[in-house]
Amino acid sequence: MAVKTVSILGATGSVGQSTIKVLQAQNVDYQVQALTANNNWELLAEQAITLKAKRAVIANEAHFGNLKQALSGTGIEAAAGEAALIEAAAMPADWVMAAIVGMAGLKPLMAAIEQGQGGTVAIANKEPLVAAGALVLNAAKKAGTTILPVDSEHNAIFQVFEPHNKKNVERIILTASGGPFRNHSLGDMADVTPEQALAHPNWSMGDKISIDSATMMNKALEVIEAQFLFGVDTEQIEVLVHPQSIIHSMVEYSDGSVLAQMGAADMCTPITNALGYPARLKTPGQKLDFKQMKHLDFEVLDEERFPTVRLAYDCLKQEKDKRQAACIAFNAANEVAVDAFLNHKIAFLDIYKIILYIVNHRPDERVGSLEDILTYDKSIRMMTESYIVSENSKKAKASI
Ligand SMILES: NC(=O)c1ccc[n+]([C@@H]2O[C@H](COP(=O)([O-])OP(=O)(O)OC[C@H]3O[C@@H](n4cnc5c(N)ncnc54)[C@H](OP(=O)(O)O)[C@@H]3O)[C@@H](O)[C@H]2O)c1
Repeated sequence: MAVKTVSILGATGSVGQSTIKVLQAQNVDYQVQALTANNNWELLAEQAITLKAKRAVIANEAHFGNLKQALSGTGIEAAAGEAALIEAAAMPADWVMAAIVGMAGLKPLMAAIEQGQGGTVAIANKEPLVAAGALVLNAAKKAGTTILPVDSEHNAIFQVFEPHNKKNVERIILTASGGPFRNHSLGDMADVTPEQALAHPNWSMGDKISIDSATMMNKALEVIEAQFLFGVDTEQIEVLVHPQSIIHSMVEYSDGSVLAQMGAADMCTPITNALGYPARLKTPGQKLDFKQMKHLDFEVLDEERFPTVRLAYDCLKQEKDKRQAACIAFNAANEVAVDAFLNHKIAFLDIYKIILYIVNHRPDERVGSLEDILTYDKSIRMMTESYIVSENSKKAKASI
């Protein structure tokens, strides 16, 4: 079915802006249903006017007045707050891009999936897949909504994964650039600033995912995401450092064939793939130039310097009824710790220590429904915040 109506959740972010670039590069007059943002009402209003969107929604209600004024006389509906965000996600659309960052995207994602009957939800927002993968995929199945992965690695795997040969898949090889500290010692990493951690060598992305790339937590989240999306055994998923970010991931089959997807380090490619699938559209982004390419290097991940990936495997290997709580805790503790690091409240290496502590000390609970997941996620966030405060006060006392 050719896509005619679209919505973008998280339109003002890095993936959201690339999605708009991809839409504008097609020779199609898309009807944009909803565009959403959290704080950036200026850009949201500009995007809504340019794309002639039906509705623009700002999650932070404090910006409603500004958004409304910026859109007055345009005929574009302005709305604000969480309920409005969910309502916008539920507007009928053939194709919805889920590009909010973090667990804040879960409820809108569920609303988009439930409305999407016969349509597609393209998911960049990996955190809900990590914390609530089974819930998200079951909802899609029930609603008849197609889920397409946009995370570059998962989009790559999707492109080379042969569902009819699933039993002959031996390994999924998730590639990782290694981030800005690939060659740093643990000693070097102790003092890095948020500004240094935000400077990714290959990709230009939002703040949270950039810090996740520096700790390799991004790859750790992606291991869990891959497990949910492709339904292979945990042991079949491997992480391989590939500093050039040219091969975005690979699938190895029983006959020894390894299928890889390659492309420039530009999110326009997976977004264009998800917009056109199963057809192939034209990307407005960069293309690979093989003549400029000197090396394709591969390295084993150093788990001593980057222990987050091992912890993701530990979460997945928990007994079935404990696994989901472990994944929620793993993700929520990271979101809180990354925020604390960006606000100069903790050091870079504290991020992992905090996640490890929270995963190991989390209350054991069975979580199944959306409400259970959100309640548990909230309790883990509170636990992580208290832990950071108590560790910081211990450090302050020790330094007197
Ligand atoms: N960037 C990449 O290259 C890339 C690649 C693969 C996967 N992903 C995944 O895609 C997602 C988005 O990443 P990004 O880099 O595009 O992030 P980003 O640049 O930080 O953008 C996040 C978007 O979500 C909105 N948002 C933030 N908090 C919100 C909240 N509480 N309620 C509603 N909306 C909220 C932001 O609005 P404001 O602009 O108003 O703050 C913005 O539109 C993440 O899950 C990330 O892991 C990103």
